Amino acid sequence: MTHPDGPLSGRTALVTGASRGIGLAIARRLIMEGVSVCVTARRAEALADAVAELGERAIGVAGAADDPAHREEVFARMTSEFGRLDILVNNAGINPVYGPLAGLDLDAARKVFEVNVIGTLAWTQQAVRAGLGEQASGGAIVNLSSVAGDVPSPGIGWYGVSKAAVSHLTRTLSVELAPRIRVNAVAPAVVKTRFAEAIYEGREDEVAAAYPAGRLGTPDDVADAVAYLCGDGAGWITGQVLTLDGGLLNAGGTA
Ligand SMILES: NC(=O)c1ccc[n+]([C@@H]2O[C@H](COP(=O)([O-])OP(=O)(O)OC[C@H]3O[C@@H](n4cnc5c(N)ncnc54)[C@H](OP(=O)(O)O)[C@@H]3O)[C@@H](O)[C@H]2O)c1
Repeated sequence: MTHPDGPLSGRTALVTGASRGIGLAIARRLIMEGVSVCVTARRAEALADAVAELGERAIGVAGAADDPAHREEVFARMTSEFGRLDILVNNAGINPVYGPLAGLDLDAARKVFEVNVIGTLAWTQQAVRAGLGEQASGGAIVNLSSVAGDVPSPGIGWYGVSKAAVSHLTRTLSVELAPRIRVNAVAPAVVKTRFAEAIYEGREDEVAAAYPAGRLGTPDDVADAVAYLCGDGAGWITGQVLTLDGGLLNAGGTA
């Protein structure tokens, strides 16, 4: 499935949280564009399966996105195996809590921020230090936000707060890192992955009825948009948060 002559041939990418779901689809898509990709996830076995599926231009480093030692190891491996860094996709994100903010466990709240917000900033800082965008083609960062960061979403309010922070981090970094690195985000509504299963399992038609597009999102819907934002065709796009929601928000829906 590798395409060494794709439009992004010779470039390299780091995709965090990519043993399944949206991250794996993004890695698959970037490899089709000619990119060599490093993927991460906490569980080594599932990550090894993903790397085997992705093929010879993929490497994997297992670890948690909020672990500084893991981040160091990832950039060391990328430097030794690829020798350059062009694209960072901050995809790893968690949502372990459900319920109203008034009763939210504060340790859980801190953990969500540690992975979703501090993690996104930390990967970015280390990628810049590791030489992201030093090539003539420049660098691209795409962060995974969510429509839950745009409109209050029942039960997942704190996750939404963290994703609102990711969106604003994206805009702020786009100014600070210009012109060497473009920084954008995608903000999906419900995408059919394990992460969102509880929202639609057993009632997909009912949930999809709120979407003008008539269906929920797929990991490939997100991967296509991310690949576009990483590519040269998006060369004048930075600081944007691209909503991917099948029309949900305009129809008055929430994630
Ligand atoms: N699915 C949706 O409806 C939706 C909508 C909007 C935004 N998003 C965002 O899209 C991103 C990906 O979500 P998804 O739906 O693809 O989730 P998913 O199917 O559950 O996949 C998550 C991936 O990330 C890894 N991961 C989870 N926590 C991690 C951590 N702390 N450190 C490193 N890797 C970690 C998982 O592997 P391990 O468990 O082995 O670590 C797995 O590979 C997230 O940022 C999420 O907030 C999702």
